[in-house]
Amino acid sequence: MDRHALLRLNPTRHCRRPTMTLTGKTALVTGGNRGIGLATVRALALAGAAVHFTSRSAAGIAAAQRALGDIPATGHLVNMTDRLAMTTLFDQPFDILVNNAAIIGPIGRILDVSVEDWALNIDTNLTAAFHATQLALGQMVARGGGTIINISSGAAHRPQEGWSAYCAGKAGLAMLTRAVHMEYGDQGIRIFGFAPGVVDTDMQGTIRASGINPVSQLPRESLAPADHPARAIAWLCTPAADALAGQELDIRAPDLRAAADLPPLA
Ligand SMILES: NC(=O)c1ccc[n+]([C@@H]2O[C@H](COP(=O)([O-])OP(=O)(O)OC[C@H]3O[C@@H](n4cnc5c(N)ncnc54)[C@H](OP(=O)(O)O)[C@@H]3O)[C@@H](O)[C@H]2O)c1
Repeated sequence: MDRHALLRLNPTRHCRRPTMTLTGKTALVTGGNRGIGLATVRALALAGAAVHFTSRSAAGIAAAQRALGDIPATGHLVNMTDRLAMTTLFDQPFDILVNNAAIIGPIGRILDVSVEDWALNIDTNLTAAFHATQLALGQMVARGGGTIINISSGAAHRPQEGWSAYCAGKAGLAMLTRAVHMEYGDQGIRIFGFAPGVVDTDMQGTIRASGINPVSQLPRESLAPADHPARAIAWLCTPAADALAGQELDIRAPDLRAAADLPPLA
């Protein structure tokens, strides 16, 4: 992260809580029915945004609504790989898009996975995120700006045994972040890649069960709660994060944690 840019924009960050007002903004979180997505729906709604989320099952929408209680959010039954359903979803404009939906599999060394499963990962984690970005961008540019957050991963930059599809997809997503910034950053589009750390979600349960690489050996107790990345994502949606647009950010960066009012790492 560009530390100096952050300090220039937010010099009093140690003395006050960050501005978290997203009132008047409309947000879409993909895969918002559980995990980091659901925590992000909650954080954005608590910051005042009108939040929409996708789930690929009605049961997922119902479970999310139960978990949210009286926090308002609108669920949409959409599989991210369904191009027509995606286009319909964007009949309404969004000020904020969080490309969160993703799958970890296929987990296996390259000779042990099928090309079909590999392609499904890329379709879900990269092509669907491109499609959502493309659909949102048209509206955002026409309206003078918007914020897109691509949920990245350390796997975008470091290979992990058994995760060739996931690593390749997240690396592609990181490049998409840079491409959007290059092409539309001067038209009011604030795009961020954001690695959420190792977070206690179902995805990490799948990873632990695989036993295939060092990430699978991490004890569950060492994982971060989903509300930590969610709070940082909500902060990125505010003007306080303007100077970081176009970058790949990591929740483990001390400056970012302080700016987003997260506790320092032990
Ligand atoms: N957890 C971590 O430690 C970690 C670390 C680095 C990056 N990340 C990233 O953080 C994001 C959220 O991960 P998570 O841990 O919260 O994962 P998760 O608990 O497995 O949740 C994934 C979400 O994506 C949705 N999804 C998957 N494929 C979809 C599709 N085709 N259409 C619509 N929705 C789909 C899932 O819907 P269903 O409920 O229908 O399956 C679910 O809502 C992902 O981008 C992940 O790569 C996570």
